Amino acid sequence: MSFMNLTYLGHACFLLETSKAKILFDPFINPNSIVQEIRKSTLDKTLVSKLSVDEIECDYVLISHGHEDHVADAESILQRTGAKVVSNFEIVSWFNEKGISNNHPMNHGGSWEFDFGKIKYVSAVHSSVLPDGTYGGNPGGFIIQADGQTIYYAGDTALSYDMKLIGEEFNLDYAILPIGDNFTMGPEDASKAAKFVGCNNVIAMHYDTFGYIKVDHDKVQQLFSKNGQSVTLMSIGETKEI
Ligand code: NI
Ligand code: MN
Repeated sequence: MSFMNLTYLGHACFLLETSKAKILFDPFINPNSIVQEIRKSTLDKTLVSKLSVDEIECDYVLISHGHEDHVADAESILQRTGAKVVSNFEIVSWFNEKGISNNHPMNHGGSWEFDFGKIKYVSAVHSSVLPDGTYGGNPGGFIIQADGQTIYYAGDTALSYDMKLIGEEFNLDYAILPIGDNFTMGPEDASKAAKFVGCNNVIAMHYDTFGYIKVDHDKVQQLFSKNGQSVTLMSIGETKEI
């Protein structure tokens, strides 16, 4: 096992750096008003550079589902970097029609061995349509196995009893779960989801970006710790060794 770097780029967007590849999840950076505020107010050039859609380096872009707040910056990053897009068949086909031929389509329950490790595309209970109205297939999440670690990126999802299957199959090191409520699980259900998947190390996503999904950070921390779990609400631009 070796350490990986995980950088939070806001909302549901993370950059995971394994020893062999940089993997970007659900890029929604330029339209994120919190990111725009940070860019305006900070003097930290490293931070601005980390949050620059024109500078992000990645080898893979994983897309959980078709909603705007998950794909907004994907096309420009894919075109510039030549990274491989991994998502369900419908979303990959949509990018392919835009000329992004470096792609890998998957569907629920399927796994594939990539050069950096293995990905399984798992179910999410949500909806999925692309920004231009194209059908986005069914939404999903990813289990990533690389460098001796296993990470569950849930995507936008409700709590589901099927998450127990993930706990049965995998020994997760981290679970990246939505906590914002309204469009996805809220904190209480996310804590239950962590229990279902058998992982006490939760990294939160999909909160605070819009009015509907603002959360009280202290209350979230208290809830998880009461349940014997740890939850990390990363700052935008923060990099954590995992
Ligand atoms: Ni969504
Ligand atoms: Mn969303």
